[in-house]
Parts: sequence; structure tokens; C-alpha cells
Amino acid sequence: MQDYDFSNFEDFGSGAIDQDDHEPEHRLAGGAALAVVDGDRAVCDYLAGLFEGRVDTAGSLGELEPQLGLASRVVVLGPSCSTPDDLATVEAWGRRHPNVATVLVTSELSTQLLHKALRAGVKDVLSAPIEQAQLIETVDRVAEGLPSAEQLVSGPSGSPATSDESSGKGRVITVFSTKGGSGKTVTATNLAVVLAKRSAKPVVIIDGHLQFGDVAVMLKLHPKRTVVDAISQLDVLDANMLEDLTTVHEPSGLLVLPAPLEPTFADQISGPEMAALVEKVRSIAGYVVVDLPSIFNEVVLNVVEVSDDIIFVAGLDIPNIKNVKIGISTLNMLNVPREKLHLVLNRADSKVKLDVSEVERTLGVEAAAHVPSDVVVPISVNKGDPVVLSAPKSGVARSFEQLASRFLDGAVTQEPVASGRRKFFG
Ligand SMILES: Nc1ncnc2c1ncn2[C@@H]1O[C@H](COP(=O)(O)OP(=O)(O)OP(=O)(O)O)[C@@H](O)[C@H]1O
Ligand SMILES: [Mg+2]
Repeated sequence: MQDYDFSNFEDFGSGAIDQDDHEPEHRLAGGAALAVVDGDRAVCDYLAGLFEGRVDTAGSLGELEPQLGLASRVVVLGPSCSTPDDLATVEAWGRRHPNVATVLVTSELSTQLLHKALRAGVKDVLSAPIEQAQLIETVDRVAEGLPSAEQLVSGPSGSPATSDESSGKGRVITVFSTKGGSGKTVTATNLAVVLAKRSAKPVVIIDGHLQFGDVAVMLKLHPKRTVVDAISQLDVLDANMLEDLTTVHEPSGLLVLPAPLEPTFADQISGPEMAALVEKVRSIAGYVVVDLPSIFNEVVLNVVEVSDDIIFVAGLDIPNIKNVKIGISTLNMLNVPREKLHLVLNRADSKVKLDVSEVERTLGVEAAAHVPSDVVVPISVNKGDPVVLSAPKSGVARSFEQLASRFLDGAVTQEPVASGRRKFFG
């Protein structure tokens, strides 16, 4: 646990806190928030007391993590956080939380610890005795280096991987099908988890199946806030508020905005309100994945309209294919551009069903992914652990990884349809 003696900790400070040394309302660059973590409550409070204004405190990195959402934040790590486990967590935060930067405070600084901390991504290491002014100056400098909200959305390269390059808004990927139970939520959750793990940008999944949404169940989450809460605060919704409203899927960092807890609340949400919510969330996040029901209602039509990509999930049986054809024709009538459509053939290897290439030919669309039928899917659904995490080597997981690559690379091109195939778009 802790590798220091608290009695030495008195040496950390240079005496009483000098309230005149800095602004009464100490604010970090860009309005970044500040947090202090240490396993020892007294140490934690001592370090937090060196700053004025609001400082969040936590007894461990795990305790703080759910609060690390989208807003920029500097985290001061107390001496108890020098352990290999905590430094490994800090390293993982570098991938999961590009909005967070860390400063380590240690009682005894060895070259080895300095090396390990910097390799884990810690921005600066301070050792005893700690001067209050020095700590504040360090935290301020680190806050200045944090990416702005705009940079977080557009990615480290500054070139957004969205189809709306000029706006720099996050990419909205909607998952739809014309037949219930075809695998929309399995696809949406696995895709969103891969995006969250592989993207430096915040990824949010919104459950648009307002009556019977099961995104939260498939991710084994028990959220208290839902789309109803988000829509009721739409006018003032910002990164900090979205952070409070969403529930973090810890293994991936995915932010989850679930469907209403009671199906009756679904009636209170209109199509334009859902579309406005999606637009607001995309202005904060890098990717927004929306899971929809298999019905062309007002909410679905409004969400489809604001989507950059529509993943159409289809099973391989005749009723499914018939309904997909009708669905694609409907989207065509609604002027949804052809290049927005990505067909996912689910349970694509089932021997008793149809020939995949025949189906693609009938639909006039080449599938973006063929997801095999595999018992790992119902097992993962029942465990609430997406296949891409619980069975990463399975063919199902590989298909979802491949599907996600289309969106992560920024170069999404609809496979050319061979001549003679029926075209439903453009
Ligand atoms: N590739 C697959 N292999 C085996 N089982 C699958 C596969 N895909 C989906 N399933 C099973 O089908 C069930 C339905 O999947 P899912 O809930 O994702 O469908 P849905 O289209 O979201 O349904 P709804 O219309 O009710 O929202 C899941 O419980 C899952 O176990
Ligand atoms: Mg579903």
C-alpha cells in the first residue's frame, strides 16, 4: 500500500497555507477541474487544502474514475498512488480519458519511480518538501497542456474522423433493423465498446429503444439517469452535465445514456427532442451510437435524419430479407443518401438459411460485416459482458472490430455494388 511514513508528510508543506499567495478563487487553465487522490484521508485533505475553490477528493483511482467524464481535469496523485498497479491505471487513463492529466506527489523520489511514473504518462512528479506555490504552479502548467473540448472532439491530429469535417462534430452512428430480435442491441453495444476502447475521443451510446431498451442490461449497468433526464435539461446540457447524466461502462470507458426506466415515459419524448439530444451529445462526444427499435416511428425518423451512418442489421431468413428490402426502400424515399447505409448480416453463417452473396445481390448492397452465429453471443448477453471483451478472439468479436474500423479510420466508403445489382439509393 503506502510506501511512506505519514510523520514525514508534515515535511511536505512549507508551513501554514498562505492564503494571500494566490487568487481567492483559484481556477485552472481552461476551467479544468481538480481532484486529489490518496489512500490516506488526512494526506488527501492536506493536499486538497493547498488549493482554493472546489477540489474533488477520492481514496483511490478506482473511486475517482466514475467521475472522470468529459470535462478537463488535473488529478494530483498522493504518495499512496506510486504503486505499480496505480501507475498501470494511470497509463490506462491516458487511453481512456484524454481529458485527464496527472501530477504525482511523492515522499521519496527515486530515479526508478520517476522513470516509471513518466512512462505511465504522469505529467510531473514532485517530491517532499512540497511548496504550495510550486504545486499550484505545476498543476496550472499541466492544466494548460490539456486538450480543449474542441480538440477532444476532433482527436489529437486535429482532423475529425467524422463525415462532417467542417463542423468538427462527433459522428452519429445509428443501428436499425426492420425486424425485432435481429441483433441491433448486440451490434450497437459491441460497436460502441470497440469505439470507446480504440478512440481517444469520448464515445456515448444512447438507447433510443425508448419502451424496451436493453443497452444498460447488455452492459450490466444499473443507471439512475436516462434520456428523460437528459432531454429535460437539454437547454443547459454541457460536457459536465453529460458526465453526470451518463453512466460509465468501466471496462471500456463508454458513456451510456439508457432508455427510460418505465416504458410509459417513452410517450413523453418526441422525435424532435430525441434528435436535439443526439445533436447536443455529438457536439460534446467524438462518436454517438444510437440503438433503435424495429419500427418507423417519429423518434426513429428524426434520429435517422441527423445520423451520419445507419447500420442496418438483418438476419438471414426470408421474412428478414423481405423487411430489409422494404426498410431500405423507405429510407430511400426519405432521401437518406445511399453512402450512409451499412448492412450487417447477422448470424451470417447459419447453414439452414440463405446464401450470403445471394442476399447481398437481392438487396443491392454489399454487407459491411458478416457476423457469425455463435453461442458466445447469448452467453455474453446473459453476463452483460460484450463479446468484444468476453470473447475477443471469436469470429463475432472480429466482425465487430472490423465494422468499427470503418468508422475509426475516417475513410468510410460503401463497397461498390456490382453492375446488375438493384440499387435502392441515389
Ligand atoms: N450472432 C449471433 N449469434 C447468436 N445469437 C445472437 C447473435 N446475435 C444476436 N443473438 C441473440 O439474439 C438475441 C436478440 O438480439 P438483440 O437483443 O441484439 O436484438 P434486437 O434487434 O436489439 O432486438 P429488439 O428488436 O428486441 O430490440 C440476443 O439475446 C442474442 O442472444
Ligand atoms: Mg434491441
